[in-house]
Amino acid sequence: MIANPLAPAWLQPPADANLLPVTVWSHNAARAASGMLEVAGVAASALAAEFGTPLYVVDEEDVRARALEARECFDREFALVGSAAKVYYACKAFMSAEVARWVTEAGLYIDVCSSGELAVALAAGVDPSRIGLHGNNKSLAEIDRAVRSGVGVLVVDSLIEIERIADAASRHSRVQPVRLRLNSGVHAHTHEYLATAREDQKFGITIADAPAAVARIRSSASLRFLGLHSHIGSQIFESEGFVESAKRLLALHAELLSGGEIPELNLGGGFGIAYTSVDTAVPISVIAARFAAIVASECARLSIPVPVVAVEPGRSIIGPSTFTLYEVGTIKDVEVTLPNEATAIRRYVSVDGGMSDNIRTALYAADYSVRLANRASTAEPALVRVAGKHCESGDIVVLADYLPGDVEPGDLLAVPATGAYCWAMANNYNYLARPAVVAVRNGVARLIVRGETEADLLSRDAGIRSTGVTEAISVTEQGAP
Ligand code: LLP
Repeated sequence: MIANPLAPAWLQPPADANLLPVTVWSHNAARAASGMLEVAGVAASALAAEFGTPLYVVDEEDVRARALEARECFDREFALVGSAAKVYYACKAFMSAEVARWVTEAGLYIDVCSSGELAVALAAGVDPSRIGLHGNNKSLAEIDRAVRSGVGVLVVDSLIEIERIADAASRHSRVQPVRLRLNSGVHAHTHEYLATAREDQKFGITIADAPAAVARIRSSASLRFLGLHSHIGSQIFESEGFVESAKRLLALHAELLSGGEIPELNLGGGFGIAYTSVDTAVPISVIAARFAAIVASECARLSIPVPVVAVEPGRSIIGPSTFTLYEVGTIKDVEVTLPNEATAIRRYVSVDGGMSDNIRTALYAADYSVRLANRASTAEPALVRVAGKHCESGDIVVLADYLPGDVEPGDLLAVPATGAYCWAMANNYNYLARPAVVAVRNGVARLIVRGETEADLLSRDAGIRSTGVTEAISVTEQGAP
């Protein structure tokens, strides 16, 4: 088959548009003999029938396995260099009480960055001492709540916060462990908006300001300095940025040891995942080994003990576990004029969700892939663009992929690798209700976050006095054409 000239260079027409590349799909996603997409033994059509579409479908065992593997790899590699590791789950990627339990049962800590995320973690029964709180602008109330709840560590993001945390700690008669977040100046190779350790950005304090900040923390009887922190960005595949940031942090760490103990070093998260078949994620075992090697060799060079190393991945724990299930509503072939004046057809396949359930494509030009979910097909693949139902031309879920050419209204589509930063960044644009999240395990599907209803949305409008919305339709119906 000849590539559609509108396809990006990396996207080749597939020999079989029904295949589910294992690098992109969760461990328990497979095609049944009938051609139906199944996850952990539950058919996509059954999920759509029971819970409606759009729907986030989480492969529970996949999340548990990735969490466990991350912890075991970091434990093993840092034990080999005479130290230990702590793996935090950065729950900004996706948070619910169930997921908090799965990852903590796997031995992970939880990194929260707002009072809301903290509330879910506490409500899920997470041991507060295993929670860390981030944020470049924590409110006084957030700081107070975290300290009062016994949160294990707060990450100081600016000089002004040192007094605020110290005040809260003394008010609650606590000695609060804190980390100091640095803007190390390292630029991770990633999308500009995702690179968080460059100089011209809002997070952390500079290396030059750090010694005075640490001295101030150490002089406070209500604070305990746990160590330095850096997070260089997100969706990173190369290791150079992590190596450079570890070197810069350890040089400072060594210098600061003259003023007292520093038990830990936090190197952040940001490990990339595969969104399409051309992405190759670095296995977590390799990442852990690289981290241990660089930290151990730098510590040896500096003649200092290897600290306990903390990391805080979000995307790589939850991202690959989930696909979003949509129903196709309309299909349009659009003739596009190419630079050489020839024309090509782009097939717009519109689904019942869009930038309200996955804003990453519109926001970052993120690439995703798509598969027909309710059946397999031998029809010749056609280049498609999966669009949403919002009133905005940038409302695209999948910029480019090939689907069997007989895709039709009523078919179900599944977009994999939507576990991270999709539900978490979902919104109500055009008054669409945010979809439900369903966990599937051992042939059983259960709701872990219910979807919003139209009544939920209307209940927030203070100008609506009666409850008499007589024609409210269900979320399932909302998606239908
Ligand atoms: N630690 C800190 C301090 C962070 O700011 C983040 C992510 C993480 C850990 C987890 O990073 P991960 O392992 O998930 O890459 N909305 C963007 C991603 C923003 C990431 C923000 N911070 C996206 O959809 O790609």
